Amino acid sequence: MNFKGKDIISIRDFDKKEINFILNYAKKMVPYAKGEKTTTILQGTVLSSLFFEPSTRTRLSFESAMNRLHGKIIGFADPTATSQKKGESLADTIRMADAYSDVIVIRHPLEGSARLAAEFSDAPVINAGDGAGRHPTQCFLDLLTILLEKGKIEGQNVILLGDLKYGRTVHSLAYALAMYGVDLTFVSPKSLQMPKETLNECKELGADIQSTTKLDKAIKNADVLYATRIQKERFPDPEEYNQVVGSYQITQEMVKNGKDDLIIMHPLPRVTEISPDVDQTKNAVYFKQAFNGVPMRMALLSLVRGVML
Ligand code: NCD
Repeated sequence: MNFKGKDIISIRDFDKKEINFILNYAKKMVPYAKGEKTTTILQGTVLSSLFFEPSTRTRLSFESAMNRLHGKIIGFADPTATSQKKGESLADTIRMADAYSDVIVIRHPLEGSARLAAEFSDAPVINAGDGAGRHPTQCFLDLLTILLEKGKIEGQNVILLGDLKYGRTVHSLAYALAMYGVDLTFVSPKSLQMPKETLNECKELGADIQSTTKLDKAIKNADVLYATRIQKERFPDPEEYNQVVGSYQITQEMVKNGKDDLIIMHPLPRVTEISPDVDQTKNAVYFKQAFNGVPMRMALLSLVRGVML
C-alpha cells in the first residue's frame, strides 16, 4: 500500500483494508513513541503546523511525533501573529507553507478548510480538525485505542455521548465504526443529535443504530463509552448552549453499573462530562487514548512521506 503524497482530509477517503494497514503500522510505532526505540526516518523532512484554533493534544502530539521521527517543525499556534491579521487569504498562507515544508497539518474553524488547503498545496495536507466537520487523525487514534484495549473493533457495542451535532470527532468515528459493523448507540440531548447526513451514511454501511437521550439504560450493555465535550464555541446562540450544558456527567457510580470491562474514552479536553473520580477506575482509558495520538501521527506522517520503518 502506498500513501506517499496523500492528503488526509476525511476518514471517508480510506477503505477498511487501508485503515487496518494503518492501525497495524501505528502499533509498530508505539515503542518509538515512548522513546524505547529510536528512528531517524523523517530526518530532513519539514512539517508546517498551522493551528488557527486552540489545541493541546493534537498539536503537541503531532510535534512529538515529528520529533520522535527526527523531522523538523515550523508553524504557529496563534494565527493573530501571522499575516492573516493583515488580511491574507488562507490560500496564500497555504502556498507559503507548501513552499517552506514537505507536509502541512492544519486546524481551522471553518468546515471544508482542509480540503481547500489541499487544493493549493502540492505537499500532502493533514486535516487536524475543520470546524464541526472532520477530525480524521483523531478517528485513527480512537480506533487504535479500541483495538489496543479490546483486541478488536468488530462487534463492540459503542455509545457515542454528548454533543453529536457539533463534535467533529464523533462525525469521523461514527462513520469508521459503522464500517466495522459495530453496534452504535447515540446518546445526546435532542438538540444535539447526530446530523442526518452522518446518520444515513452509517445506516448505509449497515450499522445497527439506536438513538436516545438516556445514558443510564444504554450504559449497561456497552463495551465502549465515548464521551464528548459540548462544543460551546460552535453554538450560534449562547442561550442554546445554556440549555444543554451539564446534560451528562459520567460518575464512578454509573461506571459500576456498566460491564466490568467497559472502557471510557474521550478525545479531551473534558469539562464536566467525566467526574474526576472516574480517572482512578480501570475503565478510564482517555489518557492512554491521548498518548496513542503520538504513534498514530508518527505512522501517518511517515506514510504520507512514503518512508516506512
Ligand atoms: C477535540 C477537537 O478539537 O475536536 N479535541 C481533540 O482534538 N483531542 C475535541 C474537543 O475539542 O472537544
